[in-house]
Amino acid sequence: MAPSLPEVVPADVVIVGGGVAGMMAALHAGRRRVVLLSDRPVGRSGSSFLAQGGIAVALGPGDSPERHALDTLEAADGLADPAVVHMVTSEGPRRIREILALGARFDRDDSGRLAFGREGAHSLRRVLHANGDATGAELSRTLAEAVARSENIRIVQGHRAEALLVADGRVAGVVTVTTDGSRRIFAASSVVLATGGLGHLFQRTTNPPEARGSGLAVAAWAGAELADLEMVQFHPTALADGSDPAPLLTEALRGEGAVLVDGEGRPVMAGVHPAGDLAPRDVVSRVLWRCLQEGRPVYLDARPIGERLQRRFPTVHELCRRRDLDAGTQPIPVAPAAHYHMGGIMVDEHGKSTIPGLWACGEVACTGLHGANRLASNSLLEALVYGARVGEDVAARLAAVPRPGEVRVAWRELVEGGIVVPGAPQGERDRVAEGVRGILWRGVGVERDAAGLRHALDSLEGLAGKESRVAEVSVAGWILRSALERRSSRGAHLRTDADPADDGLYRVVVRRGRVWRRRLAWMAARTAERAQTGR
Ligand code: SIN
Repeated sequence: MAPSLPEVVPADVVIVGGGVAGMMAALHAGRRRVVLLSDRPVGRSGSSFLAQGGIAVALGPGDSPERHALDTLEAADGLADPAVVHMVTSEGPRRIREILALGARFDRDDSGRLAFGREGAHSLRRVLHANGDATGAELSRTLAEAVARSENIRIVQGHRAEALLVADGRVAGVVTVTTDGSRRIFAASSVVLATGGLGHLFQRTTNPPEARGSGLAVAAWAGAELADLEMVQFHPTALADGSDPAPLLTEALRGEGAVLVDGEGRPVMAGVHPAGDLAPRDVVSRVLWRCLQEGRPVYLDARPIGERLQRRFPTVHELCRRRDLDAGTQPIPVAPAAHYHMGGIMVDEHGKSTIPGLWACGEVACTGLHGANRLASNSLLEALVYGARVGEDVAARLAAVPRPGEVRVAWRELVEGGIVVPGAPQGERDRVAEGVRGILWRGVGVERDAAGLRHALDSLEGLAGKESRVAEVSVAGWILRSALERRSSRGAHLRTDADPADDGLYRVVVRRGRVWRRRLAWMAARTAERAQTGR
């Protein structure tokens, strides 16, 4: 007998995730009854709040959406969707103006104009920042205040999405669970997942503990397609002092003159790439990783920034000071750490997933903007642009709230399918999730090969058993199998045993446990072009 139905709360729209993308979607959902679910306080949730570097946007002198698009495409190593890239870089300035109108305070120069910083793989200064290096916090504050003012948005805190209800092939709501194990059902015909990334599934990460890929698991269990899960970006300069998560030393430090050096003070990026320390992130991470593998520690030397360091980078200065490190006078030890997920729930240009009634935005979504390697500071911009698009699309397509009978049947199916396991102890799930972190770090880190990936899959099976429905285990398995499927190197996915005959121009798709390649029309056109030009 299925356990009794939890309390059911009806809504027009349920948005899961209190970061920038989720709040933006809520604010654009018109006059609908929105429930905004968040496991942590809204505006202090996930990675948005921690973002240091900023928001890339084509608003500065000499810049244009076209130029921003070119840099994005170049960094993405051939896998970004050109139409999506142009849409986001063109729509970005409008969304930034909107945020300014809501009261966001970005840093300005002495004449009061917006100040733009430089980061890796940007061809000019394009990155807005706030309070020096606390951009995510300022953006989150601005949106959280707007959400609090909005009468149609109800915030429900302390709830984690455990599963999606599906009735007649469309999403009918969300089952949530609190830390004390109590469940609720939020019944709605429109559900938005803005649950963030999965960096915390890796042993070394800059991401907070809640970034464990839960949104990917619930979407996939409901039948949604996921794409390019193997594309995990490693940030080169996480502080290497054993902290978990590893504090970030923003790329903007290098934009202002900091240099990566070895123990003898020799620049490690010299002669590797024309952009030197500001090469794309995948390139820099790879160089640092290989130095570390050879036993050569790497440091970020921020002394060239001089006396501006403390004023321009107060967050970095303070996090170093708390560890008795002084970035103004000594090189700081750094190492790559899992930072951002380019893959995710496959969505269209409005953030719609492949199952009716489900949208996704922010890091949990795979929009096609980032390809194989995200351009620095494009993620907050994507969260603003797609958050707004999703909210507007949801508002335009509203369907009736699912009927009680549909909710009851959908709940029973979740329990019978073993997706919701009432009474399962949380401690066991945490133990398993902790084991996953070591397996992924060793098996699908900065460099991968088939033998390591297969070994990681075996270890994963040993950890949790074949039948396990622990979200972290499911997601880890799909990442490993996707990495096996992509046999060539692209961007952040570096196969040391790459197949030279494989051009890598495809998406790796996961659906209902099956993993396969899909070549989109624009990819096929690129392949034909490569064949003709030899490039
Ligand atoms: C950074 O500040 O280096 C991180 C920014 C980003 O991940 O885009």
